[in-house]
Amino acid sequence: MSQQFSMTASHAKGKSGDDLIFATSKEANLAAMKFGEENVVNATIGALFTDDKKLAILPTVDRLIRDLPAEEISAYAPIAGLPEFLDAAINLALGEDKPEAFIRAVATPGGSGSIRHTIWNYSEMGDKVLTSDWFWGPYKTIANENLRDIAIYKFFDEKDGFNLQDFEEKVNGLLKKQDSIVILLNSPAHNPTGFSLSDQEWSSVTEVLKKASASGEKRIILFVDVAYIDYAGTFAESRRFMKYFGNLSRNMLVVVAFSMSKGYTSYGLRSGAMIGISSSSEIAREFFETNQFSNRGVWSNGTRSAMRVLGDIYGNGDIRAKVEAEREELRKMLGNRASIFMEEARRSGLKICPYKAGFFISVPVENAMETWESLKKENIFAVPLKMGLRFAVCSIPTRQIGMIPEKVVKAMK
Ligand SMILES: Cc1ncc(COP(=O)(O)O)c(C=O)c1O
Repeated sequence: MSQQFSMTASHAKGKSGDDLIFATSKEANLAAMKFGEENVVNATIGALFTDDKKLAILPTVDRLIRDLPAEEISAYAPIAGLPEFLDAAINLALGEDKPEAFIRAVATPGGSGSIRHTIWNYSEMGDKVLTSDWFWGPYKTIANENLRDIAIYKFFDEKDGFNLQDFEEKVNGLLKKQDSIVILLNSPAHNPTGFSLSDQEWSSVTEVLKKASASGEKRIILFVDVAYIDYAGTFAESRRFMKYFGNLSRNMLVVVAFSMSKGYTSYGLRSGAMIGISSSSEIAREFFETNQFSNRGVWSNGTRSAMRVLGDIYGNGDIRAKVEAEREELRKMLGNRASIFMEEARRSGLKICPYKAGFFISVPVENAMETWESLKKENIFAVPLKMGLRFAVCSIPTRQIGMIPEKVVKAMK
């Protein structure tokens, strides 16, 4: 067979951007037009919606953006980000239990930008980046786009806790073949399962990595994706694990990815920061320089208005309290939806992934595509994954949640 003619360079061949999530959402919208909105469950959208199906927006954040002077919207930001923003991002991401370490930050367009720079600057070309078997699809897209691939470990053990044993095996296995390892770990409120590592599990993870780095020969980079941290418990509680990232060896770097998308309902403003944590001032300086350079080389600078607003929120106790109170309402709504789903799953004997917090609940299903198709016929539109189905409880109105688990059980049969 003759090979299809292509204009792309060899490394870009065969890429295609069809996104199953958006395609399924479109199908759900068509079904809603046909059968009526109330009779269709669109569980695909990864953003928080109110019960009347409107994008949930924190009013105070919205007002701050609209009240900005024109120059704060139109002007460039510094390549590394506004200093007040970087200071706010560090303090808001790491919280009260900051690690004993040198900490530097660089602004990126959302957490996605931090993932890109971390993969590009800290893993070797062709190396494998490690993440869990339940993972957010774009981890692989971003790795592939940057000429890397991913390797996986089993996320859960038989007790539905973090699978430390498989994690350790896969870390050590990769380190036999590679001089460095980048590990993408999304917690708390993991996408797609809603799992959060406990304090003890975080302690064990860092112990495993300390052991793996002990010889000093290998470089270990732990990327902690906290995209959903603001929906995972109180401010202090949800950040307590950060303390484990202090006093690590020089060849271990932790990168925490802060994002304004969910916590500040600013998805489209594309604002976040990568926060480098190291016991070495030199490595922290290198982190800043390297990633600032990459900013210039990939997207130049980030969105000034979003940075200014975060600086303003962090700099004013009253405003910050207002934002937190508004977000707390959303968190309660989300928690209530998840509780209903879990309760109904228990009642109908549906096994779900261990959910603690966040936007998504996942159901392990062996033949996910078939079940997904059957559910569509019932007007329930989920996201099929390799290991199961993802339900975005963040975007389903509370009144529609309760009937889902039983229908999933039926569809699995
Ligand atoms: C697990 C995870 N990490 C990171 C992100 C990045 O989002 P953003 O680039 O908008 O900050 C998302 C967004 O959906 C996500 O689900």
